[in-house]
Parts: sequence; structure tokens; C-alpha cells
Amino acid sequence: MRMRAAVLEEFGQPLEVQEVDLEAPHAGEVLVRLVACGVCHTDMYTASGADPSGYAPAVLGHEGAGVVEAIGEGVTLLEPGDHVVTLFSPQCGECVHCRSPKTNLCLAIREEQNRGHLPDGTTRLSRGGEPIRHFMGTSTFAEYAVLPEIALASVSREAPLDRACLFACRLSTGLGAAMFTARVEPGSTCVVFGAGMVGLGAVAGCRLQGAERIVCVDLSEERLALASGQGATDVMIGGPDTVAHVLEMTGGFGADYTFEATGIVAVMRQAVEAARMGWGLCTVAGVAGKGETLDIVPRLLITGRRVAGSSFGGVKGRDQVPQLVDRYLAGDIDVEPFISHHLALEEVNRGFELMEAQDGIRSVIHFDTQGAT
Ligand code: CU
Ligand code: ZN
Repeated sequence: MRMRAAVLEEFGQPLEVQEVDLEAPHAGEVLVRLVACGVCHTDMYTASGADPSGYAPAVLGHEGAGVVEAIGEGVTLLEPGDHVVTLFSPQCGECVHCRSPKTNLCLAIREEQNRGHLPDGTTRLSRGGEPIRHFMGTSTFAEYAVLPEIALASVSREAPLDRACLFACRLSTGLGAAMFTARVEPGSTCVVFGAGMVGLGAVAGCRLQGAERIVCVDLSEERLALASGQGATDVMIGGPDTVAHVLEMTGGFGADYTFEATGIVAVMRQAVEAARMGWGLCTVAGVAGKGETLDIVPRLLITGRRVAGSSFGGVKGRDQVPQLVDRYLAGDIDVEPFISHHLALEEVNRGFELMEAQDGIRSVIHFDTQGAT
């Protein structure tokens, strides 16, 4: 079939919205009609060429939500009409990691996904017979996408898809960091560094876990106001004194749980140092640049602090994204304040500009309309 998609032709250049070909799903694959897709920093990072593992031409986008249109041979997990959220972090349910409750890092299709292929080593995307690669196994800056069935979460049909798409990436990452990686205990004190989408999700996750005190640190008053809306009890402009302030607030001990959601290694260090001696757990959810290292004074670890990493919030996508969407539907998670701009696919580059200008938290692309609502 023919469809419109935003293609990364050349690093450092705007994406080009154009007609491309999409082949029908092969065995184990599903054709999804996208309804909405968030514009994420990771898309912009890859488009810029800063990611050494990036490739072009490729169709970017990985925060999609839509409706199953057709299924390939042998597909058992989904049927046409199902509402789905795309999973760059799939869940095969069978590999050694999927069978362990300790991790969400499914091993099933990683290598081919990293090469921009579907699991059988080929692409469904092409143009004039020449293959175009898939991005993060999703490629959702497009009217349609073909994905492996294990890379789709089936969510409630009651959830508006232009809200559900937020659960495809950073919101779930933040929520999950608090709920599934750190497993914050009721009554605890938490500090969240960064009030972008991941940090705001972590604030909400701490609240859902019953934390008593949630401190959010950021450089923007505007974002800190959003953090208060998600349940932060205290907000703080970040700086060199942040750790001292946290220690002051906690009788000199530090927080039970800290979360790093900026990707800046100097902030990660602060997040470790702000964790309580004895049992403080620092969860790193931000993604640092390739080759960067994190400095930790070993004495901090000997005296009982722990550091954990969290990819996609430890969320096992097919099982737990639907649960998070249900909590949104139940009124436990307020996603409206995250959506700052509504765009048409043709305006995808504007989504990058807004992100660069730190204007709002999330732009959402709508495929069924001709743009702004
Ligand atoms: Cu993302
Ligand atoms: Zn797996």
C-alpha cells in the first residue's frame, strides 16, 4: 500500500513527508493504522545525526497509538479492530528475560531492531523498490506501520488514542521507574531530578505508590508547576547546592528514593549523593550520551546507597502498558497537562522546533485530521 510518512533522508536535515510503500504484514506481524503519535527527544536526537547508531533513510517515530487493520499469518495476540500502543521495548513472553520478573529487557528481536529491520531481517518500508529502514522497530511517523505482534500493547478501547500514545515511551518510563524499578514504598521521601516527561511520570508514579514527600528539581518554574500538579509536595530550582538542600530537608540523611530523569551525568551524581545512607536507592532513568561516565564516591555505596538503571521504566510492555492506561482511565494519572501542541504529520519538524525551544512537554501528531485542533 501507499501511505504518507516522515522520512529521515539525511542527518541534520528536516524530515521529509512523502509517499512511501508499505508491504503487508509477514508471519507474526501486524498492520496498524496510526491515529496519534508523540514527538520525542529520541526522534530528534536520531534525526540530528548525534546518535552514532542512527541510520537513514528511515521512517522515524516511536510513540504511536492506533487500530489493528490486518494481521499476518500465525498472529494470536491481536485481531483487527484492537486498539494498540506501540512498544519499542517488546515483550515476547518466552525469552529468559521475559520469564524473569527482574527485567523488562526482552531479548527476542533486539539485533534486527537495532539494524532497522523487522525480526526476519527485512523491511516492509520501501520507495521505488528500495528499502527504507524501520526506526526502533516502530516507525510511527506514518499513516500505517507494520510491527511484530510482540511489539504492541492492546489497550482499552475507551482510552482516546491521542492520550494513550503518551504511554508508548517516556510517560511509562517515568511511572515505571517509581512503580516497577524502585517499587517506592508508602510513606517514603522521594526526590525526582528533572521535570520533563520522564521526571513528571516519576513524580506521578511516586504519588501512586503512596510516597509522603515528593521533591522535584528542575531549572524551569513552568515545569516545576507541572510537577506540583502531578503530586510533587516540594519543588526546587536545581543548582550546585541541590544535594545540600535535600540533606537539609531530610534531617541530614537524604531521600529514600531518588530518580534521575535528565540524562546529564553531573545530575546523576547529585541523585546518587541525595540518596539516604543505609537504604537510599537512586534510579537512573535518563539516558546519557555515548561514552559518558558517572562518578560515584565508593564510600556512598559501602554506606548503603544503591544505584539502579531503568529502561522503559522496567515496564513489561504488553502486560503493564494496558494497566497504566487503565489507571489513566480510572482518573489516577492526569495526562492532559503533558500535551502542549497538536500537529499534523506535515508539521513534524515543528514538533522538533518546539522541543528545542522547550516549549511545552509533548507535541502529538494526529493522523486523522489535517492538523491543529
Ligand atoms: Cu520516546
Ligand atoms: Zn522476551
